[in-house]
Amino acid sequence: MLVLKTLHIWMVISWFAGLFYLPRIYVNLAMVPADSAAERERLLLMAGKLYKFMTPLGILAVITGLWLWFGYGFHGGWLHAKTTLVAGLAAYHWHCGRLLGEFRSGRNRRSHVWFRFYNELPVVVLLIVLFLVVLKPF
Ligand code: HEM
Repeated sequence: MLVLKTLHIWMVISWFAGLFYLPRIYVNLAMVPADSAAERERLLLMAGKLYKFMTPLGILAVITGLWLWFGYGFHGGWLHAKTTLVAGLAAYHWHCGRLLGEFRSGRNRRSHVWFRFYNELPVVVLLIVLFLVVLKPF
């Protein structure tokens, strides 16, 4: 079980590297001047590669978590609250993919300020999930 939990935490940390950095690239993309096509293409390339990299990591973080849950008899309200928040993270991940599509087709209308606030959401969710899984308050 400890090997599986180690792999779970590894996948979670790697997934979060993407959840933290991809919206940061969007902050920069939203600030690129219209006449800087080379910079825009460079940032789009980075965002596309990162999204491809972080998607299997997110899936493996969830698979190892569910394996821990159902394979080792964990239970409690904390796990339901945690899984609900993780579903929110999965929706955020999916929405990041939608935003990438909008940037690629030049349809983004959101400002860099909007993306700065958007970028903080996974930070807050991570803190709440950590309190739930380490303290198991209910
Ligand atoms: C559906 C998705 C997930 C499920 C079902 C799940 C379930 C679990 C379970 C049952 C444990 C073992 C708890 C223990 O040993 O006390 C665990 C450990 C852990 N999970 Fe998840 N997890 C999921 C996703 C995540 C995500 C997205 C994060 C981070 C935001 C996360 C962070 C952690 C951490 C840090 C631990 C180690 C806790 C400790 O050793 O005390 N998990 N998870």
